[in-house]
Amino acid sequence: MESIVISIGGSVIFSEDIDISYFKNLADMLKKLCKKFKIYIVIGGGKTARTYINLGRKLGFDEKILDEIGISITRVNAKILATTLGISNCNIPVTTDEAKNTDELIVVMGGTTPGHSTDMVGAELAEKINACKFIIATNVDGVFDEDPNKYSDAKQLKEVSIKQLISEHGIDWSSAGKNVVIDGPALEIINRAKIPTFVLNGKRLDQLEKAITGQDFDGTIINL
Ligand code: UTP
Repeated sequence: MESIVISIGGSVIFSEDIDISYFKNLADMLKKLCKKFKIYIVIGGGKTARTYINLGRKLGFDEKILDEIGISITRVNAKILATTLGISNCNIPVTTDEAKNTDELIVVMGGTTPGHSTDMVGAELAEKINACKFIIATNVDGVFDEDPNKYSDAKQLKEVSIKQLISEHGIDWSSAGKNVVIDGPALEIINRAKIPTFVLNGKRLDQLEKAITGQDFDGTIINL
């Protein structure tokens, strides 16, 4: 059975008001698709992580502690999704090796170590399990030429090369809570391991399902 890694931004699932029907629909879709694919979900920290990171920053905490706070929130989010699914792991893996060795139909995890976002965790896991694809489900419709949350005329890129993304954004991690479409350390792994990677809006479950099942979807294909 082919394996797929999906990195879901915390802001997709845990936004301002938690959308229970979205949450249940996501769980139903994953339960349907796990009959055809082994699915690994890496879930982000979203607004809650950023709120606590900002609080810690104001209190003068160092970056490592701020990252650790973010990681804790991602694991809480993972626990909530895993429990909603009911057929995945009860204990949240704290490393990608642990996730790799978890024998469930769907495996859900959050962050691992300081110095990157959950995108990098997804890329690392995809490399380790030799995933057939890595899907980054974020809160916008893929990669744009400018930040679509700031510029209303930003244009969606249907395809973009990994080399272009690395030359524009670099491969370094900047700071805790930094909200970028794909973080630098993840770009480095995608490039090195040549992982087929797609970016799409995780709120649009129809598009997520299309990407998982290999149909055309509205989003961005990363050319390797
Ligand atoms: P996220 O992966 O959620 O970051 O981790 P993000 O991209 O800012 O947010 P969303 O979820 O896509 O909206 C939250 C924070 O936790 C720390 C980082 O500080 C990150 O910004 N973190 C997370 C780590 O240090 N290591 C990890 O493995 C995961």
